[in-house]
Amino acid sequence: MSEAPYDPAAFRQFEHEGWNRLSDGYHRHWEALTTQAVPHMLANTQIAKGARVLDVACGPGYASGAAAAWGATTLGVDFSENMIALAKTNFAELDFQVADAEDLPFPGGGFDVVLINFGVLHFPDPDKALAEAYRVLKVGGKLAFTNWAKSEGSGITIAMRAIIKNGAIEVGLPPGTPLYRFADANECESVLNGIGFTDIACTELSLTWRLPGTDTLMDTFQQATARMSGLLNAQNPEALPAISAAMTEACAPYNQSGVTVLPMPALLTVGTKA
Ligand SMILES: C[S@@+](CC[C@H](N)C(=O)[O-])C[C@H]1O[C@@H](n2cnc3c(N)ncnc32)[C@H](O)[C@@H]1O
Repeated sequence: MSEAPYDPAAFRQFEHEGWNRLSDGYHRHWEALTTQAVPHMLANTQIAKGARVLDVACGPGYASGAAAAWGATTLGVDFSENMIALAKTNFAELDFQVADAEDLPFPGGGFDVVLINFGVLHFPDPDKALAEAYRVLKVGGKLAFTNWAKSEGSGITIAMRAIIKNGAIEVGLPPGTPLYRFADANECESVLNGIGFTDIACTELSLTWRLPGTDTLMDTFQQATARMSGLLNAQNPEALPAISAAMTEACAPYNQSGVTVLPMPALLTVGTKA
């Protein structure tokens, strides 16, 4: 989203500020979507009763809550203090703490499963975070992570097209991980292989985003996601009505009796610590 040289510290600060500011909006607008991936993550990591599960970039705590319901002992970590406060409110009986995915404050080999639901895209150095996941897993333990996949009609495609056509992409935001790097199964396999994971498998998940109207997508991004809200907030204010109108028009074919049902496919990647 910018021609500026890659500066991991600047990207981290941008993401941290965004998620802290938007934690409540994220919970309001994204819970019904990102939680759809969680049962697949739990099934594919074969979480057993009593397993120790680390939920990295836990946000409002959804994966922790679901894993605990499966009988796991969970710990959720996120670098956003406000996300951790929200997770503690949502799941008062579970453990959450502030921690950075790239520098986990735990000794090696302590967890049976690491889950990262829609987190890797937000890390300044995702390879480092995945290596951290490997370090804290027990031998034989499993990592599962998800990333949005590219798709015609996805909310991300619709928003990006509307901005490219009616606004600007180069607005001086710190560049981060390419949006779809971890939607590429070959890339996911290559990264996990390089770290030492085995039995790597990628599965496409068909998730859907149900919005309360064709004209709600822009607000939903502005109120709820660090990168897209940063991009929208950095537009010339005069361009915003056209961007919003383009999103509404592109959402129209997905209207089902007043509900906009957008395809939001994701790639689930699972690997085992050798
Ligand atoms: C898209 S949200 C995903 C939240 C949740 N896992 C879910 O399933 O909805 C991304 C989360 O990653 C967190 N995050 C981003 N960078 C992080 C980092 N370096 N370390 C820990 N958490 C991070 C954000 O604070 C945010 O809560």
